[in-house]
Order: sequence, then C-alpha cells, then structure tokens
Amino acid sequence: MVQVTYLLTSILLAGNALAFPLEDEIIDIDHASEMAKKKSKPISKPLDQKLFDRLVFMEQYASAAYCKSQQSTPGNLVTCKSKTCDLVTAANATTAIEYERKDLSTDVTGFVALDPTNKLIVVSFRGTNTIANWITNLSFDQVATHLCPKCTAHRGFWQSWLDSRTAILTAVYAIQKQNPKYQIVTMGHSLGGAIAQLAAADLRFTYKLKVEAYSYGSPRIAGHELSEFITKQGDNYRVTHYNDIVPDVPKIGMGYEHVSPEYHIEEATGVPVLPKHINIFEGTRSLEGNARHMWMTVNAHMWYFNWISACTGMVKM
Ligand SMILES: *[C@@H]1O[C@H](CO)[C@@H](O)[C@H](O)[C@H]1NC(C)=O
Ligand SMILES: *[C@@H]1O[C@H](CO)[C@@H](O)[C@H](O)[C@H]1NC(C)=O
Repeated sequence: MVQVTYLLTSILLAGNALAFPLEDEIIDIDHASEMAKKKSKPISKPLDQKLFDRLVFMEQYASAAYCKSQQSTPGNLVTCKSKTCDLVTAANATTAIEYERKDLSTDVTGFVALDPTNKLIVVSFRGTNTIANWITNLSFDQVATHLCPKCTAHRGFWQSWLDSRTAILTAVYAIQKQNPKYQIVTMGHSLGGAIAQLAAADLRFTYKLKVEAYSYGSPRIAGHELSEFITKQGDNYRVTHYNDIVPDVPKIGMGYEHVSPEYHIEEATGVPVLPKHINIFEGTRSLEGNARHMWMTVNAHMWYFNWISACTGMVKM
C-alpha cells in the first residue's frame, strides 16, 4: 500500500512536470531504503564498441517511428526531419508497411522495414505522442498471455502487440521469403519499447523466429514469470538512461519486473553518450541501474543517444 501511494505521487508529479518543466525533478522516496540493501556492481565496463554501435544504430530506428514520414507512405526510404535517424537513412532502409492506429484504444503505431546494408528485418514501434498524459494515465492491470504458465503482461502493452501482430507478421514473412538470412530486430522507445519486447517474446515462442529486441526507456512490462521467461529467451537489449522516470514504473511493488539485462547510461541528459557511460546490470528486480536514482525526471526520458522523440517536438524544455 505504501508503494501504491508513492507510485501515484510519482506519476502525478511526472504529469505536472511537463507543465512546469523547471520543476521536473521528483523525489522517489521508496528507493532510499532499497538503495541501502545492495551496492552497485556493474558486469563490465566499458561496453564493447561493437555492441555500443549496435545500440546507437537501433535507437535511430526507434526514433524514426516518431516521424510522420514513417507513418503513412510504405516503400520509401526511412528518413527523419529531426536528423535523429541519419545512420538508418544512410543504410538505405525502406519501409514495407507503415501504420498509425488512431481508432484503437491502444494507439499502436510503427513500421516494418528492410535494411539491405545490415541485412535486417526491422520491426519498430513508436512511443506515445503525449508523454505526460500517458504516464499519468498508465494503468497497472495485467492480463494472462499464452507464452508460459502464470505469464502475465501489462494489459495495454500486450493488447497493442495483439492489435498490430497480423500486419507485422505478414510483412515480416514477405521480406523473409526473399531474404531468408536477414536478422529480425524489434525496437522502440517508451511505450514502443514495451511493445517491442513483448513482440519479440511472442515471435520467438509462437512463431519460432530468431529475434533481437532493443528497447529504450521502456516501462516495466510484465510480472515475475514472464520477465524471467523473456530474459531466458535471450537477445534482449534493454537500455535505460540516467534518471528517466519511465523505466521505474509500474513499480516492483505493483507486481512488475523488468527483462534483464539492463544497459544503463549513467550520464546526464543532453550529454553525448560514450561506451564508458554504459553499465550492464542483471536481474529482473535489479535496483542498481536506473532504479537506483532517487530523483527521477521526464526530461531524461527524451534523451538516449540523441533526442529520440524529436520528430514530435518532444525534447528537453
Ligand atoms: C544507398 O543507395 C544509393 C543510391 O542507390 C547508393 O549510391 C548508396 O551506395 C547506397 N548506400 C549503401 C550503404 O548501400
Ligand atoms: C487520461 O485519459 C483521459 C481519457 O482517456 C483524458 O481525458 C485525461 O485528460 C487523461 N488524464 C490526464 C491527466 O492527462
């Protein structure tokens, strides 16, 4: 009950933070005692340059999902007027499908692309356009999934995947038929990162596809069993930034855990990210990376390797 109160306080403050950007720092009191329990012990440092480059590159696909140019005109080169996906444009990636569902409660939006340079089949999901409303209105309700016994996921995130699954599968299979050796990758920022991880889990388990999942600033998406299940599947790259508030909701006390490991960028908002800034932490209930912070901000959610949601105008205020 104590955790519930703090969570509600945190998310309400987060909503207010966007209206009053100068006061966007939030004291997350329940971490004071949690922090004392465990000292921070990263796995390795600095991060391998090759993996670092891949995290940077996949972030640009996540960023591209925010741009209108990827929401209605399939068959075009992936471009970002915000200049946040230039690496992807240079790789000559073109979209196979683009969709924007305004009619659905889940609002799932994204694209599937073919990247001939890196031999990738890309499944990218957009985050929400209204971050303050979204955090404030975020529910904690979980629903059963078919992935494993007692495997529950956040109801809204799971429904978003179910709403988009058929169109995505059709596109992925069509590309795969022509390019059987291409690697399937899913990614997204924020809400998009949440859906990307569930999509990967289902594509691996139900459709026996080999999938790498890249998420940036994803909230917690599932209960203990499903978080462990997806962790064991492997090929998960969950990136968090500094004191971004979003990866710390919904709270562990609400029955939520994270997919492990966490690639945590320990550097302030707006500062260019280097391999030495990233620490890797393991454990679905880890409180050592992002969750270690007592001061959580919305601004930190907008910065990953660039202003990831810049196409919507959502950058630091
Ligand atoms: C992308 O396409 C352009 C035009 O067809 C070509 O000049 C360029 O070499 C391609 N880039 C890569 C990385 O293949
Ligand atoms: C929450 O969502 C409802 C409708 O779904 C909306 O009318 C309301 O403004 C939202 N609340 C906040 C604080 O944004």
